[in-house]
Amino acid sequence: MRALVQIAFGSPGRVALQQVTDPVAGPGDLVVRVHAAGLNAADRMTLRGEPFGIRVVAGGLRRPRPGFVVGRALAGRIEAVGDGVRDHRVGDDVLAETPAAIGELVRVPARLAAAKPAALTFTEAATLPLAGTTALQSIRDAVGARAGRRVLITGASGGIGTFAVQLAAARGAIVTASCAGRNAGLVRALGAAAVVDYERREPLAAPGEGYDAILDLAGNHTLAELRRALRPGGVVVLSVGTGGRWLGPARRILAGKLTRGPVRTLLARPSREDLTEIAEMAAAGELRPVVDRVYPFPEAAAALHHLDRGRVAGKIVIAMTGEPG
Ligand SMILES: NC(=O)c1ccc[n+]([C@@H]2O[C@H](COP(=O)([O-])OP(=O)(O)OC[C@H]3O[C@@H](n4cnc5c(N)ncnc54)[C@H](OP(=O)(O)O)[C@@H]3O)[C@@H](O)[C@H]2O)c1
Repeated sequence: MRALVQIAFGSPGRVALQQVTDPVAGPGDLVVRVHAAGLNAADRMTLRGEPFGIRVVAGGLRRPRPGFVVGRALAGRIEAVGDGVRDHRVGDDVLAETPAAIGELVRVPARLAAAKPAALTFTEAATLPLAGTTALQSIRDAVGARAGRRVLITGASGGIGTFAVQLAAARGAIVTASCAGRNAGLVRALGAAAVVDYERREPLAAPGEGYDAILDLAGNHTLAELRRALRPGGVVVLSVGTGGRWLGPARRILAGKLTRGPVRTLLARPSREDLTEIAEMAAAGELRPVVDRVYPFPEAAAALHHLDRGRVAGKIVIAMTGEPG
């Protein structure tokens, strides 16, 4: 089978569609025929090999291990189940956050795979693993969005942000979205009550007003700026950071941890329960996956260049079959 293999660190063009050995379903595993794979900011870091620590994931400090397959989010149909798998069957459609997701066939730990509701297309389903679960865990667990709570989300038009805006608004929070001006209409349509255009350097909060919580997905403001935009008792939730080649996001997250006061850091984790929850919300029309663009599998390198530019509105999806649905 063919997979998207990363050959070197650096430019996202350093990938190739290669023939690799078909995966086998070990105990507790599924083998899934992938119909659609979603790209995530984490793929950008792995491709760049920065921060350097992420090279461990790719299996090599100078170059990725041979046959290292890119991707973390997929939707597809189960072709094989391993011993001990009770809750999935061959022919079932699933979505999952799992390594090496951009391949025609992928081995997936069964405990991470959520059932794909029939009302969701494979393309829509592929947007949810990682981005959707991170948004849910951020908004539910860290931001604590609820009726009347004033929440600012930076990076609101991106992969996580488009879900986070909707999830916060659905819980009754009054959402302000920070994004580029061209995406103001999009985030308002998703439920933002107000928009801050960071490209025009608009202030984060009007004088005398502030937020109960700030979910920082963009990392383009200093911690001090974010804290000044809080109401008394408010909290900054860091999901991101800018930083050097060594520490990358860890530098800002570390600074957040060392800062006395209302700064929390988020580390999202793969969760079948959370994935099931957002998939069901999306199937019920309560959560809209925003798809910026779908690329056919042979054009996966172009999709990665698009991701690398950092200006994605919603999600980029790779169609692994001719018609992912
Ligand atoms: N803590 C965790 O567990 C965890 C988990 C997953 C992801 N993350 C991190 O969360 C962040 C967001 O992920 P994502 O998947 O949503 O990324 P994304 O899809 O690339 O979206 C980020 C958005 O940020 C905006 N942006 C780009 N450059 C900017 C700049 N210079 N200043 C302000 N905004 C800018 C872009 O929107 P505009 O075009 O509108 O500017 C873009 O759509 C990433 O850094 C990722 O690594 C953390």
